[in-house]
Amino acid sequence: MLHVTWIASVVVAVTMAMAMASATAMAMENELGQGVQCSGKANTAAPYTAPPQLVASTTNGKKFVVGPTGNQITVVHLYGTPYEMGVAAGTLLKQEIINLYDEFLPWVEEQALAYAKHLPRSLVDIITDIGIEAGLEMEVLLTEKYTPKHFVEEMKGIADGAGLTYNKVHRYSMFPELIKAACTIIAGWGNATKDGSLTQVRALDWGVDNPMRYAPITFVYHPEAGQGNAFMTQGFPGFVGAITGYSTETAICEKVWIHSNETILQGRPGYPWHFLLRDILQFDSTIAEATARMQAAKRTASIFVGVGSRVDGQGRIFEYSYDQLNEFDWNTPFPGYAPTPAEHPAMTDLVYVDKHSQPSSHPCTASLLDAIHGDITPEAIEQDFVSWVETGDMMIAVYDFGTNSVDVSVASQDPEANPILKAYERQFIRYDMAALFAEPRP
Ligand SMILES: *[C@@H]1O[C@H](CO)[C@@H](O)[C@H](O)[C@H]1NC(C)=O
Ligand SMILES: *[C@@H]1O[C@H](CO)[C@@H](O)[C@H](O)[C@H]1NC(C)=O
Repeated sequence: MLHVTWIASVVVAVTMAMAMASATAMAMENELGQGVQCSGKANTAAPYTAPPQLVASTTNGKKFVVGPTGNQITVVHLYGTPYEMGVAAGTLLKQEIINLYDEFLPWVEEQALAYAKHLPRSLVDIITDIGIEAGLEMEVLLTEKYTPKHFVEEMKGIADGAGLTYNKVHRYSMFPELIKAACTIIAGWGNATKDGSLTQVRALDWGVDNPMRYAPITFVYHPEAGQGNAFMTQGFPGFVGAITGYSTETAICEKVWIHSNETILQGRPGYPWHFLLRDILQFDSTIAEATARMQAAKRTASIFVGVGSRVDGQGRIFEYSYDQLNEFDWNTPFPGYAPTPAEHPAMTDLVYVDKHSQPSSHPCTASLLDAIHGDITPEAIEQDFVSWVETGDMMIAVYDFGTNSVDVSVASQDPEANPILKAYERQFIRYDMAALFAEPRP
């Protein structure tokens, strides 16, 4: 019902906006009658559901493509020990890795320097004087001691498979410690979702002038028996962390920035956050286990983390920084400030943080969530939420535990694309996760 009301109000708003000849900053009325400023528009495409097509295979790895013409994602399945999985990834993605590394360094240098005031001075000096590779090398040195061996083994495998040096692969995998992205995190369950099961959203706003968009890769890891859960990450060639991912047990989301007035204390020694999040996917089943992992870790950057668990059937958002870990349920005043701001109302069985710096006083996200609350499905998120909020320019993943599916959308993959389509404007690709996790070895 809420959904129908909202659609009706969108139709009214669209008509009014056309009358006013205003393409942007459209005023919408939600069912509470609040005037809401959302600048986007509807995305009516239904998810693409045909299965991935095999294009190559190697010892311990298989490579597929999936998606409609002009909007394809490479899917890489990896099997065996961490080193064997690395070799398979390096072999299957050799050209993509070499191309991306060339494009990537100038971009990440520009990004790091654009946010230099939020990085430690010593690190900025190194990047300015010697270059970004030296800055990334410093991150390697700071985090090496806290990096679990399975990541080291996998990076050695990638280097061997792609014919690169280990140092190059390791440096490149450190980039999330140096740059900032604005993102949206949502987890809804129980009374928030249509079927009561957990649905989680990770929308990555990173700008689309980012060479990472040229080769979006869905990695499906099939660890050996006793080595944890099968899991998928949505990532990039030659990159081993998880900024987006779903496993047989858990799912993770992330957003950089704690408060708008706070420095992100990066450049600290510790367990790289994108490695920690991947270990949640691989080794944890419950929110309590993920919490214990984050609590025990020597943490680096200041981020928000979203964690969902199949057995718990719920999600939580965490404020995560080197000196604190705060957990937020749906009815905890969010995040770290009470009373809850008017623009961030508590909604039953729903945790969320919008794409803006926090605390955010932008009303769009909460008003749309309020409109779909009780009716949340992946389709509602894709068609009635992200494209209106305009969140997830680079990548979006919607994890649906009820149907065991993950919907992924990415920005235009073609380097020459003009205009570059943003992920929230495009057709999502739906993965049947039971099928992906059951993909047999080559
Ligand atoms: C969810 O809805 C049911 C039925 O209206 C209600 O009994 C229950 O208290 C609600 N749950 C929460 C957490 O408010
Ligand atoms: C940020 O702002 C909050 C609220 O005004 C304040 O309590 C906090 O001390 C500030 N933090 C810093 C690092 O200035």
